[in-house]
Amino acid sequence: MEKNISVIYGDGIGPEIMKETIKILNSITKKYGHNFYYHYLLAGIEAIKMTGNPIPEKTLQICSKSDAILLGCIGDPAYKCKSGYKKITPEDGLLQLRKKMKLYCNIRPVIFYPDIHRSPINRELLKNVNFVIYRELTGGIYFGEKGRNESGELAYDNCIYSKNEIERIGNLAFKASISRRKKLTLVDKSNVLETSKLWREVIIKIGLSYPEVKLDFLYIDNAAMQIILNPSRFDVILTDNMFGDILSDESSVICGSIGMLPSSSIGGKTPLFEPVHGSYPKAKGKNIANPLGCILSGSMMLEYFGMHKEKCLLEEAVKKSIENGVFTEDICYNTNPSTTEDVGNYIKKYIDNQ
Ligand code: IPM
Ligand code: MN
Repeated sequence: MEKNISVIYGDGIGPEIMKETIKILNSITKKYGHNFYYHYLLAGIEAIKMTGNPIPEKTLQICSKSDAILLGCIGDPAYKCKSGYKKITPEDGLLQLRKKMKLYCNIRPVIFYPDIHRSPINRELLKNVNFVIYRELTGGIYFGEKGRNESGELAYDNCIYSKNEIERIGNLAFKASISRRKKLTLVDKSNVLETSKLWREVIIKIGLSYPEVKLDFLYIDNAAMQIILNPSRFDVILTDNMFGDILSDESSVICGSIGMLPSSSIGGKTPLFEPVHGSYPKAKGKNIANPLGCILSGSMMLEYFGMHKEKCLLEEAVKKSIENGVFTEDICYNTNPSTTEDVGNYIKKYIDNQ
């Protein structure tokens, strides 16, 4: 197969984790006779510095013509909003990219690897944890009208959802649960929020067409607690943009590090694959960042392309690296962490040797 892939290194540790990911994808494509053509594109801080725009038009154009987008991570504390100071941020670029590509469905699998001993949660509770978060990605409070009054002392962010926006991700989440353990949990705050009431109405209605799926409901505050108290109860979690953002960082505690979590975003023409974590600016250039979230996002891309064998081999290689203690410092529990490159090289070599 031939594929055109837009690659955005992004900020902070982005270039380091992406280099390992491409290295590994190259050994997969070589083995299976595929051709991936990579188009390296600007977004984030570099893009702001060079063009004043965190997601230049050229990046959007090439992304929209590609078969997939691979993204490292976006953000930098230097661009943190100071009070009353309006400034373009790297994050604006990421949000625009998701919105312009119409990627309304963000899929974040949470899997526990027993060989990683870094979760503060009791190990008994972690056995059999395997769930996936379906996070709505182009609506809600992230994209509603926002602003300040003249004095700047009043601010607002509107949370808006339409029936259609809920239905389209709802259908995908039900379909996903059918090929899993057939359990769907809608997380909302429908005891308070009008948007959440609409989410419930719409999802209950869709549920009638999926009688084999057990649908249940949790308020976000309770869900945040249950993810720690009883994480194996979850199969598919469906939720809005803001709640999904928060729950996915919380869920990473199960895996021992947010560096472990991959994601895919679908819905529009070009899917996007990016790790869940941020740009970890303190680690930039130090060769210490965990590349697995990014590498596993690459494996979600292979699955999206229908390259199932390829995806399985990549994930087997990741499991071997973990079993053999090739850990970056965030998931390492002894005194001898591997580097970002060590992890990439181990996985590449494992694939080459199969
Ligand atoms: C994520 C990130 C982004 C988000 C930020 C960087 C804008 O936290 O992908 O979870 O809030 O969606
Ligand atoms: Mn987040």
